Amino acid sequence: MKKIIIYGSQYGTTKRYAEKLSELTGISVMSYEKIKDLSAYDEIIHFGGLYAGGVKGLKNTIKALPQNAQLIIVTVGLSDVTNTNNTDHIKKSIHQQVPQPILDRTKILHLRGGIDYSKLNFMHKTMMSLVYKKAKNTPEEEKTAEVRDMIETYNQKVDFTDFDSLQQVIEVI
Ligand SMILES: Cc1cc2nc3c(=O)[nH]c(=O)nc-3n(C[C@H](O)[C@H](O)[C@H](O)COP(=O)(O)O)c2cc1C
Repeated sequence: MKKIIIYGSQYGTTKRYAEKLSELTGISVMSYEKIKDLSAYDEIIHFGGLYAGGVKGLKNTIKALPQNAQLIIVTVGLSDVTNTNNTDHIKKSIHQQVPQPILDRTKILHLRGGIDYSKLNFMHKTMMSLVYKKAKNTPEEEKTAEVRDMIETYNQKVDFTDFDSLQQVIEVI
């Protein structure tokens, strides 16, 4: 099976995971921005940073996905991926982004990334401050684990990157 790793990363966390997996497996790696033709591949491993539930670069990978190729989506986000409420929520949003015939040959995995608020661009800073304000005003009993994680890490620099968690991706490959 010919495989390739593709990543969509804004601030580097996802890129680091993708490149580490490439180093560990010998599978070549590239950014979604460089996708031209994937017809030579029958397994595509797409790593994407989560942005408001969207998986960065996934649209491009899906557009270029050869018919019958296997797809493995690896999300990288801030919320705690040991919490199944969080991962169920991510999966639900992926189900809205990926057409059913492709979902039927897709596996979805989740890794935890990080964030450095001092490095965010203006648009992302503004988005996060709006999300934070809304979250703070949400009654305690209505706050999801994802919202709590966001409040706890707001305006900080946190890094939950754990290369050992790539083992689950290696097992699926
Ligand atoms: C505007 C914005 C929206 C985000 N939305 C989500 C989200 O919906 N779920 C999540 O788990 N993390 C979310 N995050 C956190 C990123 O997914 C996390 O920082 C990730 O490590 C970024 O990957 P990158 O460094 O490769 O760009 C968001 C971050 C920003 C700045």
